[in-house]
Amino acid sequence: MPKKIIAANWKMNLLKSEANSLFNDLKNGLSPDNDINVIIFPPSIYLSEILEVNKSTFHIGAQNFHFEEKGAFTGEISAQQVKDLGCSYVLVGHSERREVFGETDDALLKKIKAALQAGLNVIYCIGESLGEREEGKHKEKIQSQIELLSSFNESELSKISIAYEPIWAIGTGITATPIQAEEMHAFIREVLLNLFSDKSAEKMSILYGGSCNENNAVELFKCSNIDGGLIGGASLKSKSFSQIVYSFE
Ligand code: PGA
Repeated sequence: MPKKIIAANWKMNLLKSEANSLFNDLKNGLSPDNDINVIIFPPSIYLSEILEVNKSTFHIGAQNFHFEEKGAFTGEISAQQVKDLGCSYVLVGHSERREVFGETDDALLKKIKAALQAGLNVIYCIGESLGEREEGKHKEKIQSQIELLSSFNESELSKISIAYEPIWAIGTGITATPIQAEEMHAFIREVLLNLFSDKSAEKMSILYGGSCNENNAVELFKCSNIDGGLIGGASLKSKSFSQIVYSFE
């Protein structure tokens, strides 16, 4: 069975006091079932502080890092530094990193390798644009994004989860319907089964992301190939995020 994961991607939001207060509200108010892995991705400048007060069972992760190990890369942080701080997860391939910051497949592959080398778990984000969907090329796009993982072995794959995030649904308020999402998740599972051993493919968690909120989470999480969610906007309010986590139980 794939792990159940609900992840909060705070993106570039919240001032320090707001981040601390949101984290404290979650820490004190949210007690997910044991089989649900809750991961919080705060802005990196707050990681240290949040890791220090994290007495909960939440995993903490970094939204971004550089693939090089160390050196003259002003402004960057390495996977090793992220791991050394106490984080256990990183996000790789988010469409905002691909589109706004021009991250290429080559860079993403290097990032996944660096993260695994450092002992981190990876949530690898994939998704098609509206244009690609309208042209009927969404499955082709998703397949090629998954094929980026083809060189990884079983033990490496056990540390990688996939987040299917249709770009047209991210931050737009337009969620994929459960039927659309499940169709894509089943397709992703099929691609994984074609690429990897049954064991690796069946164990890999596939999360849905894109305007997932407390009102649509229940229906999405009922789908058999949806193993959790990557939540942006709705993760910025403890009540909404907690309700999403409880939707999964
Ligand atoms: P959203 O973002 O929930 O605000 O659509 C999801 C994401 O980008 O991970």
